[in-house]
Amino acid sequence: MKSALFQKVKTLSQLRQTIRKLKKEGKKIVLCHGVFDLIHPGHIRHLTSAKKYGDILVITVTADKYIKKGPGRPIFQEALRAEVLSSLNMVDFVAILNSESAVEAIKALKPDYYVKGPDYKSRKKRSKIPQKLIDETQALQVFGGKTVFTDDIVFSSSKLISEYLSVYPKKTKEYLDDLKNRYSADYITDRLSTLENLKIIVIGDSIIDQYHYCFPVGKSSKEPLIVHQFMIDENFAGGVLATANHLASLTKNIHLVSLLGTKKSFEKFILKHLKTNITPKFFYRTDTSTTVKRRYLDRFTRQKLFQISYLNDDPIEPILEKKINKYLKAEIKKFDFVIVNDFGHGLLTEKLIRTICHEAKYLALNVQSNSANYGFNVITKYPRADFVCIDEHEIRLAAHDKYSDLRFLIKKIYKKMKSTLMIITRGSNGSLSYTEKGGFYETPALTDKVVDRVGAGDALFSIASPCAYKTLETEIIPFIGNVAGALQIQIVGHRKSIEFATMVKFINRLLI
Ligand SMILES: Nc1ncnc2c1ncn2[C@@H]1O[C@H](COP(=O)(O)OP(=O)(O)OP(=O)(O)O)[C@@H](O)[C@H]1O
Ligand SMILES: [Mg+2]
Repeated sequence: MKSALFQKVKTLSQLRQTIRKLKKEGKKIVLCHGVFDLIHPGHIRHLTSAKKYGDILVITVTADKYIKKGPGRPIFQEALRAEVLSSLNMVDFVAILNSESAVEAIKALKPDYYVKGPDYKSRKKRSKIPQKLIDETQALQVFGGKTVFTDDIVFSSSKLISEYLSVYPKKTKEYLDDLKNRYSADYITDRLSTLENLKIIVIGDSIIDQYHYCFPVGKSSKEPLIVHQFMIDENFAGGVLATANHLASLTKNIHLVSLLGTKKSFEKFILKHLKTNITPKFFYRTDTSTTVKRRYLDRFTRQKLFQISYLNDDPIEPILEKKINKYLKAEIKKFDFVIVNDFGHGLLTEKLIRTICHEAKYLALNVQSNSANYGFNVITKYPRADFVCIDEHEIRLAAHDKYSDLRFLIKKIYKKMKSTLMIITRGSNGSLSYTEKGGFYETPALTDKVVDRVGAGDALFSIASPCAYKTLETEIIPFIGNVAGALQIQIVGHRKSIEFATMVKFINRLLI
C-alpha cells in the first residue's frame, strides 16, 4: 500500500514525462497547488470538485523553505504533506515544488485547468489578489490553460492551526492575540494603502552586494588552507538602492539621491534593478568605484566564508560636496519627508548632514554600523531625527555604553535626537519601540526561518518610515516593520524586494 502511495509522489521532471504521455492518450490534466499543511473538509471538497474538470489530478505542494506563513509553519514537512495528499483517492500525482507559486509546474505540465479554491474567487480588489496568482494566470495564457475556481465550504488551514494548535512561541501568540483583538488585517492593510501618494526623497550610500558561490575542493597541498572552486555569482542592488526598492512597493513615487564611483559605476546594472517608480539622481566621484561588498559563500549551505569590500570611504571632495549640498538645499523642501540610510561610506559628510537636518520637514534616519566604520558611524552624528531606527548594537555604540539597560539608553538617545519615535531592532528578539507618550512597546520576531540576515534591518526601516511619518498607530508601525524584517530574512541577499501583496498576505496569515 505504502509503495503505491509513493508511486504517486514524483519529482517535477518525472511528472513532466508522465503527463506528456497521458496527454497523448487524450487525458485532460488538472493542477492544484498549495501548502496543504493541515488537510480539512474544505480541501476534500475542493479536490473532489477540481478532479471533475478533467481526468488526471496533479497536486503540487510548496516545499517547506518557501512557505511564508509565520513562525512554526509548516507544521508538517513537505514529504508528509505530499504523502497525505497521495493517499486521497481523487489525487493521481503529487510533486513538491521549490517555489511559492505554481508557475514552474504550469510551465512544465501545461495543465488544461488550474484550479484554485473558493477563498480566491471572492478577491476582487487588486491588492487582495496575490502576485503569484497573476503570474500563474499569465503562464497559463501562453498555451491556453484556464484558471477556474471551485465553489464550496471555505475553511482555512491557517485559521484552524492558529485557533486549535499552538505553533507560535508563547510570547508571539500572546502578542498576536492581543494585536488582532484591536486591529484587523484589513484595517492594517487599508492604513498601508494610505501611503501611496507620499512624496519621499531617499538619500544614502549605494552598495552592490555580490554573492560568489563556491565549492570546497580540498585542502591546499602547501598551506593549511581550504581551497574553494568558484561556481556562480549573483549581484544585488543593496544599501540605499534596496531601501528605495522596498519603499517603492508602498508609494507611487520615490526620489533617490546617491553616490556612484566612475571607475566602475555599475550604473547600468543599478538602473536595471531599480523599480520603475524610482527617479534616481546620482552624483559621481571620479577617484573611485561604486562600493562593492563581495561575499564568498558555500554553494549549498549558503554559509558566508569571507568578505572583500571594495570601498573608498574617505569623505567626498569639497567641490562635489558643494554640488550635492546645493542640490539638497533646493530639492528637500519639495518632499513630504526625507529618509536617510547612512552606511558611512563617504557620501554623508558633516555639511550634508547639517543641510538635511535643517531642511527636512520630517526625517527618518538609519545609521549603520559595519566592519568598515565600526564605532565611527553613529546616529548621534545627526543633530536630530523624527524617526530613528537602528539595531541594539548601534544604539549602544552611539551611547558608548555596552552594559546599561536598553530602555535607559533608548530614552537617552531619543531625547538627544529630539525624536518622536524610535525603533530598536533586536534580530531574533524582534524590536523595541519607544514614544514619549506611549512608552515602550515590544514586538516579537515574526518568523523562525532564516535564509539570509542581510538587509533585515533596512527592510524594517524602509517600510516603517512612511508609517511613522503618517503617524500610524504606535503598535502597528513596528508590527508592519517586523513583517518586512521577517519577509526579508527569508530572501537571499536582495534577490527580491518586499512587495505590497506579499506583506498583505503575511499580515492576513498572522492575524487570522
Ligand atoms: N534571526 C532572526 N529571526 C527572526 N527575525 C529576525 C531575525 N533577525 C532579524 N529578524 C527580523 O528583522 C528585523 C531587523 O533585524 P536586525 O535587528 O538583525 O537588523 P540589523 O542588525 O539592522 O540588520 P541589517 O543591518 O543587516 O539590515 C528584526 O527586528 C526582526 O523582525
Ligand atoms: Mg541595520
